[in-house]
This record gives sequence, C-alpha cells and structure tokens, in this order.
Amino acid sequence: MKGLGKKRRERKMSNSEEEQHHVGWEMKMRTVKRGGMSEESQHDEENDDELAMKKEEDNLLQSPVERRMISASTTTNVGEYMSGFGNDFETEALRCALPQGQNSPQKCAYGLYAEQLSGSAFTKPHPIRTWCYRIRPSVKHASKFVKFDVPLWKSAPHILPDVTSLGQYRWNPIPFTSSVDTTWITGMHTVTTAGDVNTQTGMATHVYLVTKSMQDEYFYSADGELLVVPQEGKLRFCTELGCIDVEPKEIALLPRGLVYRVEILNESGPARGFVCENYGIPFILPHRGPIGANCLANPRDFKTPVAAFEDRDSTPSSVVLKWCGQFHRTYIDHSPLDVVAWHGNYAPWKYDLRTYSPVGAILFDHPDPSIFTVLTAPSEIEGTANIDFVLFRERWLVAENTFRPPWYHKNVMSELMGNIYGIYDAKPKGFVPGGMSLHNCMLPHGPDRNAFEGASNATLKPEKLNETMSFMFETRFPQHLTEWAATVAPLQEDYIDCWKSLEKKFDGSPGIK
Ligand SMILES: [Fe+2]
Repeated sequence: MKGLGKKRRERKMSNSEEEQHHVGWEMKMRTVKRGGMSEESQHDEENDDELAMKKEEDNLLQSPVERRMISASTTTNVGEYMSGFGNDFETEALRCALPQGQNSPQKCAYGLYAEQLSGSAFTKPHPIRTWCYRIRPSVKHASKFVKFDVPLWKSAPHILPDVTSLGQYRWNPIPFTSSVDTTWITGMHTVTTAGDVNTQTGMATHVYLVTKSMQDEYFYSADGELLVVPQEGKLRFCTELGCIDVEPKEIALLPRGLVYRVEILNESGPARGFVCENYGIPFILPHRGPIGANCLANPRDFKTPVAAFEDRDSTPSSVVLKWCGQFHRTYIDHSPLDVVAWHGNYAPWKYDLRTYSPVGAILFDHPDPSIFTVLTAPSEIEGTANIDFVLFRERWLVAENTFRPPWYHKNVMSELMGNIYGIYDAKPKGFVPGGMSLHNCMLPHGPDRNAFEGASNATLKPEKLNETMSFMFETRFPQHLTEWAATVAPLQEDYIDCWKSLEKKFDGSPGIK
C-alpha cells in the first residue's frame, strides 16, 4: 500500500493536473467496467511499464467495491444515506480521498489531515470511533474560547429550591411567541434535567423552537449526544460527516463531539420538536430477547449520510461548544465542516419512525411499555437504562377480555412523554400534538376517567389505532423541572383533575363491575 500511496502523491501536483488525474481515473473506471484487463491486454503496443501501471490503478479502484457504491460526488450531496445501525461505514466526497488498508499514512491524498474522533474510551470493548480525512485538523477550528450564556439551555444538576418537580405535569404545545428569531442554540428550551452532566450520567429533555438558520455559526457538544424528535417543520443538519434532512415522523441522532450547523428548510416554516440530551453511554438498539432477530427497530432502517464537505475560506465564523453545561464561543475564518472522507462506526444517523414494527399482545393482557423501545442507552446496572426512547404508534389492538390502554402504575423510572401527532389512547383529550407530560419517579398515573370508562365498556373486537404517534424519554433518574418549564411554559394547571372523577366502584358485593 505504501507504494500505491506514493504514486498517488506523485500525481497530485496542481489543481489542473489533479482534475486531469480524476478524468483519467474516471476513464479507467469505465474501461474496467466495459472490458476489464482482457480488453486492455489486446493492445500489444503498450509497453510493460504502462500495463503494470494500469493494473495497479485498476486494482486500487476495484478492490474497495463498496467505496464506489457509496462515494459522494459533490459538496452539496444532500439526501444520500448509507443503511445500517453502528456499521463500520466508509465514504468519500472525492475519489480516492480515503486511505485504504491503513488509517494514518505518512501523507494523505489531497493533502488532507487524518484525525480520529472517538465516541468511547479507546479500550472499551467494541470501541466506537471514526477516522476523518479533512482539510484542516480540528485544532484549527478553534481559537480562544469565551464563555457566554444561553439562558434557556440548562444542564444537570439543576435542582432549584423554589421549583417543585414532584407531581404529574402536562403542557400544551410551546407556541412560537418570541419576537426575536431563534436558532438551534438560542431556541433550545430545557424542560427537565436528570443525573449529572459532569459524571456522564443522566439526561436532559428540551423543546426546540427554531425560526432561523445558523449562518457561519457551528455547534458541538462535549456533554452528550442529542436525539432529535421533530414535531413540526423540517431541519437540515450539515455535519462534519455529511448532511441529514429530518422532518416529523423521523428522528435524528447527533453524536457527542460532532460539529454541525442547523438550517431550517424554509418551505416548511418554523420548526418545533423535542430533544433528549444523553449524558451517558450512547443509544443502542435494545436486545430483543425471545422476540428474536426481527421487528421493533430494524438496523437497516437507520440512515447515515455520505461524506460531504465545505471548502470555505475567508469566512468569519464562530464555533459554539457546550462543555460541562456551559457554553463557549470561538472565532475562526473558515468552515469547520471540512471532512472530505471518513470511515468508522461513530456517525450521525436518522430513522423513520414509520418503519418501527411494534410487537404486542395477541391474546390477552397488556405487556409492559418496554415492548415499544426503539433505542436504549444503558447504565452500569444491567436492564436499568439511563434512557429508553419508547414509541407508541399506529397498531392493532386485539387482546380479549383485556383493559387495552396502558394500566395504572407507579414506576421507579421517570417518564417524559411527547405527542408527535394524533390521539394517545390513554389520554383522548388534553395530551395534544406538540404537547408533553411528565410522570416522575414513583408518581402514580394512568388513563383518565374517559379513557378508563371507554376501554372498560368497549366491545372488544379487533381495533386499529390510527393516526397516533407519541413517544417517551424514560430515565432511571428523577427529572427536575427548570424554572421555564414550571412557570413560563404552558403548563396545564388542572391536569391532575383528569383522574378526579374516577369513581369508587367497590361496594363489597361480589361480581364483575
Ligand atoms: Fe407510565
């Protein structure tokens, strides 16, 4: 491989020669596709050196077949994705930018810098990391950091003496009322925090209200990955590793440490949604246990973008870093989205929630809602998640002699729910699209009176729950409200009254009632 690398370097002399070089290689590719070496071998006039050279180049181009299938061709290559969850992907926006057979050659193609982005400790079993080949190393994407305040984005621990988090809470959708445009950073409204960002345990839940794209501004978080659940409007995440467009009914994940810019896609208007900020171990797919190898979220439905990069110089830009709950800004004169090629298993992705295949009861009773887990972020206690992301979507209800909505319960886990669209079966009224609710650790909850009476007296024929999609961020830690969530957000003060009219049916006499 060293010899091939040297030849590649020798060919790269100037831009014009580089272009000619690519044209030549494209032609080589077509030659290979048409006839392969047998066709070329008919040209007796070619000398041995030229043939050897062709063979070497053809081998180089042909060996990584997948690379040709997934390679990006332009810097604006939006909408192309690779399939799979946690795969070891490889992708390049310029042909042959990705070293083959090694990670850090003495010199990289195109004069790129090799850099590793690690999402886990080096020594973790099955470490997650990605090798980036970029125009500048990341140390050039920062100058001196200056701390500044982002008033509504809070991090754990954030326990306020004057705010009570013990209770059942429900909010109406957060309206777009600000007279000032808000970006991905300024429009992030923290609802709850849990655990401790400094010890990498717990999480925070946010609602984002985005009315303006980030312009020459970039963001990354050292505090955790962000799971994005759009509820209204479309967003584009232009990241170091490629571009992701996301809209309601889809989710996206932005890994810890990944630099990106968030644009609002204008035709869709302002964007609102939910974010789970995971301070702990990254999300994985849950083990399906006896369910087997299929259903729930299938790996092939997760989509990671192909490589795309910006080569923008002399552009005053800033990079915002969230670090231990504090925000810092640094100024540079170029775009940091300059990764031309990358390979690895630490990358952003998106997932279409409509591809989630729910599994449930087919005779009687109601399984625990863990049956609807899309993603889980494990903690150090087996089976006790730092966070579960759970989806309640369209499905059939067929159980016999069964109270079909979720039953009444208390739970050691803390449950933050959001409604993406439609009607949630346990709360036909009040829990509306864009709204959310919080049922904290060991706080009882369950169907409201109307849902209870309706489900208790329904004719139990097979029924399709249509037009419904709600989710839950569930954590092992108590979730503490922010002052904004407790006093400014549209809290439904009468939420607890939804259970008030539940009747005492017991009168001591036997019989089903
Ligand atoms: Fe619950």
